[in-house]
Amino acid sequence: MEEKMLARIAAGELRHIAFIMDGNGRWAKARGLSRGEGHRKGAQVFEDIAEYCGNIGIRHVTVYAFSTENWKRPPAEIKALMRLFSHYLDTAAQRLAEKKLRVIFLGDRGVFSKSVRKRMEALEEKSAVYDRILNIAFNYGGRAEIVHACQAALAAGEEISEATLGAHLYTRLSPDPDLIVRTAGEMRLSNFLLWQAAYAEFYATDTLWPDMTPADVDKACAAYFSRKRNFGALPGE
Ligand code: FPP
Repeated sequence: MEEKMLARIAAGELRHIAFIMDGNGRWAKARGLSRGEGHRKGAQVFEDIAEYCGNIGIRHVTVYAFSTENWKRPPAEIKALMRLFSHYLDTAAQRLAEKKLRVIFLGDRGVFSKSVRKRMEALEEKSAVYDRILNIAFNYGGRAEIVHACQAALAAGEEISEATLGAHLYTRLSPDPDLIVRTAGEMRLSNFLLWQAAYAEFYATDTLWPDMTPADVDKACAAYFSRKRNFGALPGE
């Protein structure tokens, strides 16, 4: 990445990138592999991209790994994704420590077994010493998150406001995403970070997620830095 962009990242102009990791199935199909194989490659790439983002100074990365709607997929594919997730829970601690990343899982954990929930918490606790955040959305839906945040605020006896609701979102430790990147040519949010995406810049690329490289991240960042963000105000205000 060129120095100018690195300097702008260091100055806090791009704090949070969120990725909608699409195209694993198409990548696998093009190679005569199973969809599960596509996700396996996608999981490797997710770690590489998260590491690269850390290297260029991005302090918050969020990935959409499994949505509340993904339960509608064929059982074999769901099984493959759950197996990958379980493997990640068992093996990621050392890699997170090497990359100094704090992992946080976004979504409803209630559907997972006690053992899975415990391992999610253990990984979160173990990595909590680091301040660079990797949010992994797993069994996540944006609408469900907003409902969850409202319920949590009410249960705490709070008024519903943007501030109280924001404080109960799964992403409460991260600022809103500055940039949302979606791969594989689709142009939808698909129930991802609905609340937080209010002023995010959206970047779509035809690259399939398993083909995603640091150079593609650089391109997305370059597009981001070429945009003018006014947050509803007039330019220059
Ligand atoms: C969308 O591609 C991708 C998913 C539904 C799953 C993404 C998951 C990973 C990259 C693995 C994450 C793993 C861990 C351990 C967190 P698609 O299958 O819809 O692709 P298609 O549109 O080409 O069929």
